[in-house]
Amino acid sequence: MLNGKRVILGITGGIAAYKISFLIRMLKKQGAEVKCILTPAAKDFVSPLTLATLSGEPVYHYFWNREDGRWTNHVDLGIWADLMIVAPLTANTLSKMAQGNADNLLMATYLSAKCPVIVAPAMDLDMYAHPTTAENLNRLENHGIQIIPAEEGFLASGLEGKGRMAEPSTIFERVEDHFALSASLKNQTILITAGPTYESIDPVRFIGNYSSGKMGFALAEIALQRGAEVILISGPTQCQLHHDRLKRIDVNSTLEMYEAVHHHFEKCTGGIFAAAVSDYRPATKAEQKIEKSEKTLQIDLVKNPDILASIGESKSKNQWLIGFALETEKPEVHARKKLQKKNLDAIVLNTLQDAGAGFGHDTNKITVLDKDNNSHNFELTSKREAAKNIFNFLTDRFV
Ligand code: CTP
Repeated sequence: MLNGKRVILGITGGIAAYKISFLIRMLKKQGAEVKCILTPAAKDFVSPLTLATLSGEPVYHYFWNREDGRWTNHVDLGIWADLMIVAPLTANTLSKMAQGNADNLLMATYLSAKCPVIVAPAMDLDMYAHPTTAENLNRLENHGIQIIPAEEGFLASGLEGKGRMAEPSTIFERVEDHFALSASLKNQTILITAGPTYESIDPVRFIGNYSSGKMGFALAEIALQRGAEVILISGPTQCQLHHDRLKRIDVNSTLEMYEAVHHHFEKCTGGIFAAAVSDYRPATKAEQKIEKSEKTLQIDLVKNPDILASIGESKSKNQWLIGFALETEKPEVHARKKLQKKNLDAIVLNTLQDAGAGFGHDTNKITVLDKDNNSHNFELTSKREAAKNIFNFLTDRFV
């Protein structure tokens, strides 16, 4: 699995740096290419000669090579890598990563890198327990960085507690898991709908809803991380996502979303419909802005097509289909009915009873129900974690 994979190993100035030699050996043994970048402080803890010998590559530590004067191109290093690991990660480098500070080669490479990043923090127990450390780790997590938590044990200070870097074998297992997972949707082309739809009343007004698009974009992000091609059809949203394997199509209304979905679904292996689609639209769109006159104003609405149900009817039997349901009463009963009615393989249920779940929030609390009567309740998590849970649940079953 690691054969030919290109790994940048960032090493910072903590005593656990001495253990990194073992990680390099494990990675090399499995066929990975490893390039080490040291922070200035790391050189006091581990010898560049040891790292160069084990990795079979030059070790990078300055922006320029002091012998031949050549610039070390951090952008090329960042582009080269399939994965970046920073271990041990000191409190100092953690803080720089959280702030985007680029005062050394490792940090400049981190900011240039497009690949996934795994970090293994290591520091004394009080530093690890400090609220700033927790905030910085949280920030990294929100940027999609995978964190291998520090472990309990004896620390260099003589104290005992949480702060030891995870063992090289644990880091190695996480790297293996990462590459296994990043290939788990490799042969999939997934269509995802996201965001609200806007139905025009006149040139300046519309009927819409509070959907932020965050859930659909989180699904797209995780599907891309796991190797899928993604076609993301989104209603109006502030969300951003860029990736070579992403095709993003922006729409406004339900009818536009319907057209785009039907145009693209045929070439997809499956679809996840996370958009909050407007069930009705004004029967006519006024050509001019509607001026106020009477005390009341009536707007006739007509029903929009159900995009998900129409795909459920026309899909081939090899294509899988997942819907979302937002329910306020008898949630599981209603969600199961929708699952059957729309010919879905599974449905992701949100209930408005759960604090922090649903529209606008960064978190979600979901239950996934499948057509074989399995169901799984997940805890309240970030939408990115919820997206991972959805794919973890589905990949074994349908994908
Ligand atoms: N959906 C869709 N097109 C619509 C309405 C809904 O594609 N016109 C999709 C949503 O993206 C979601 C699922 O259908 O995946 C469930 O939508 P929901 O609004 O909960 O279900 P409805 O069938 O519209 O039922 P109701 O609004 O009556 O609860």
